[in-house]
Amino acid sequence: MTTSSSMDRYIANICGKVAIVTGAASGLGKQLSKALAENQLKVLLVDIDPKVEQVSNELNEQHHNTSWIVLDLCERGSIQKFFDKAIDKFGHIDIVVNNAGIANERSLFSQEDHKELDRIIDINLRAPMEATRLAVRYFRETGIRGTVLNTASVGGLMPISLMESYGSTKAGIIFFTASCKALAPQVRVNAVAPYFTDTPLVANNRLVQAYPLVQKIGLMKPEKVIKTMIKALGDESLAGDTLMISMGAKAEKLKFYDGLTLQVIAYIAGGTVNKYAASISSYFSGMLNSILGFLRNPVPVNIKRE
Ligand SMILES: NC(=O)c1ccc[n+]([C@@H]2O[C@H](COP(=O)([O-])OP(=O)(O)OC[C@H]3O[C@@H](n4cnc5c(N)ncnc54)[C@H](O)[C@@H]3O)[C@@H](O)[C@H]2O)c1
Repeated sequence: MTTSSSMDRYIANICGKVAIVTGAASGLGKQLSKALAENQLKVLLVDIDPKVEQVSNELNEQHHNTSWIVLDLCERGSIQKFFDKAIDKFGHIDIVVNNAGIANERSLFSQEDHKELDRIIDINLRAPMEATRLAVRYFRETGIRGTVLNTASVGGLMPISLMESYGSTKAGIIFFTASCKALAPQVRVNAVAPYFTDTPLVANNRLVQAYPLVQKIGLMKPEKVIKTMIKALGDESLAGDTLMISMGAKAEKLKFYDGLTLQVIAYIAGGTVNKYAASISSYFSGMLNSILGFLRNPVPVNIKRE
């Protein structure tokens, strides 16, 4: 649970730092960039969408210190380019937020060739891994205690029909993040895994729109994700952790759904389930937890609840 005093502490820990945010022209990246700039961070906004310039200009008109670069993360060499730009503009880097992402718009098995698969893997998985590799090298060379934040998804924690590619890239990000735990304390790598959130990504994706859980319980507000992203950046006790974010108030209430990954579904459904469903599913979830606990050894993936 994040209280306002702990939020103040997380903000104090990152205030004045230099951050890079990818996917900053829209949705979560745009809102995070604004929140960071408002808390006196210098921010480089990165996006393939030229609108990123306007987002940066609008922040600077409010006396914030941001810059921008337009590039395609699929292009080899693009990540080094935004590192160079941040150093050129702000002198150094403290924080790298790998937020840019796309969702597949049709099932892998309806795609005629490999191009959509290549692109989603490039943007959602390869680019964050490559950016983390370059960040770790940079932080080691400079001696800066740096932070990397990756944007995963609940889609990486439970299978979602027809979104095989998206879910697989996000599961990869969660696993990759956990694998980076030993880099701390010099480099803290964490991730957030939000439930479906009200952003253009969701508004423009018919697979997400049609997903039964979305139709049933709606979308989460981006503000909740932004707060958790700030916590992941500023909470120095976190390393290799994925913070799962849901709209449900009470994480422990469970719902039997799809017969898969009860723990996650229940967490998302939160306070929305009725008592009857909760009591039945808590029995099954107890069993499931024991099995998962056993399976998690010896490589634990730390998933914390927000
Ligand atoms: N909205 C949700 O429901 C949700 C839930 C969980 C996780 N996420 C993740 O959050 C992140 C942000 O998503 P959002 O919902 O804000 O979506 P969004 O579509 O509003 O923003 C994504 C941004 O990434 C940029 N981008 C896409 N491809 C790029 C490329 N090749 N190079 C550079 N930039 C590129 C887009 O132009 C866009 O500005 C993504 O990683 C997404 O998977 C979103």
